[in-house]
Amino acid sequence: MSSVPRIAIEHASQYVGQTVEIAGWLYNLRRSGKIIFPLLRDGTGIMQCVAVKADISEKCFNDLRDLTQESSVIVRGRVRAESRAPGGYELDVEDAGIVHRIPEDQPYPITPKEHGIEFLFDHRHLHLRSRRPHAILRVRHEIIRAIRDYFDSNGFTLVDTPIFTPAACEGTTTLFEVDYFEDEKVYLTQSGQLYNEATAMAFGKTYCFGPTFRAEKSKTRRHLTEFWMVEPEMAYATLEDVKRVSEELICFIVRRVLERRRHELETLERDIGKLEAIRAPFPRISYDEAVAILQRKGSEIQWGGDFGGTDETLLSEEFGQPVMVDRFPAEIKAFYFQPDEQRPEVVLGVDVLASEGYGEIVGGGQRIHDYNLLLQRIREHNLPQKAFDWYLDLRRYGSVPHAGFGMGVERTVAWICGLDHIRETIAFPRMLYRTRP
Ligand code: 4AD
Ligand code: MG
Repeated sequence: MSSVPRIAIEHASQYVGQTVEIAGWLYNLRRSGKIIFPLLRDGTGIMQCVAVKADISEKCFNDLRDLTQESSVIVRGRVRAESRAPGGYELDVEDAGIVHRIPEDQPYPITPKEHGIEFLFDHRHLHLRSRRPHAILRVRHEIIRAIRDYFDSNGFTLVDTPIFTPAACEGTTTLFEVDYFEDEKVYLTQSGQLYNEATAMAFGKTYCFGPTFRAEKSKTRRHLTEFWMVEPEMAYATLEDVKRVSEELICFIVRRVLERRRHELETLERDIGKLEAIRAPFPRISYDEAVAILQRKGSEIQWGGDFGGTDETLLSEEFGQPVMVDRFPAEIKAFYFQPDEQRPEVVLGVDVLASEGYGEIVGGGQRIHDYNLLLQRIREHNLPQKAFDWYLDLRRYGSVPHAGFGMGVERTVAWICGLDHIRETIAFPRMLYRTRP
């Protein structure tokens, strides 16, 4: 076809009245005698095309009329503003070239009818082309971009941390062990935090952002075995800095998604008003207060116990905002948390629970900076001291109070998109019973 501009559907508004080319796939097709309405998707959006028999070649009309769902096609036509069209614009077809036609006897497996969740996730490599996963993953991308923008413009240096690690960061029960060379065992990282503590002493404020792994044997709607986490770490910082930064970050992300991905949120039928209402300061409560609230609401939790999924849901339904819960019993938290000076039985850790029952999206706090106390904790937790030698070095050489947190990308996406299950927040989820495709 001749040289007309090849445009993305999401930019159609800039080309009204012009002839353009769109390279995509047939999403759906409606026929009405001498007019057909191919619905074209190109990865950036979906656009209705109008092909009138009298206006185009017979071959082009017949090709389009007989085109099968998800066949690839390049369409040329003139962009027209159409307030009744879903995206606000339509394309009056002038010509079309089929790139790959799917034969009728081997049709695209995902049809506009309803499919079961298992079927869709078995065909996830194709399912990603559908409206809903497409909208979710575009929001995910925007969230990731917002996270990077926030840290990059607030003085944090990105320093990547390793995935093969010799030591456990978040307890030994969820480690994936990997055979390394010559009988050496390593683990897939649960968190880049320990390394962040080293890089924070070198760069002041750092973050890492990558995949992390947890051998979660439970089947829940909040757990993946492979998930993405952003983890900032700050030298000369305390629990209060963690609260301030995580609050700012969450507000920044929500505003950005509302600004740039409103259309996708509408596709997902998200209650946008609830997101628009998110603003700092978030309510702050202590673990003690959280336990009292939960007991009032009928939970069986006792002081000293960890929140179960239902407890988190109950707590995060209580407020219209994300809520910050701090000062957990040392017993239920990882070895590295700094104890509260006034009450050594609790630690300077905080969880941020998203609103609307979504539960924890952020976990973090202040780290032990005293050498002897850290060594004692490593021993109490029965961790192999040798693997933590380098980590202890950070307390030998210019140790300072420092703090940081981790935010799970998928939990955040689930909350912002209003999804029932975390499996939809990542292109190819890894869970207890799913490692394919
Ligand atoms: O609370 P977690 O375990 O904290 C840490 O790993 C710290 N070392 C982070 C730090 O301080 N640098 O995990 C942090 C967040 C959780 O709040 C949650 O959002 C997410 O990671 N997360 C998971 N997301 C999906 N699937 C799982 N199995 C997750 N486990 C944790
Ligand atoms: Mg946590």
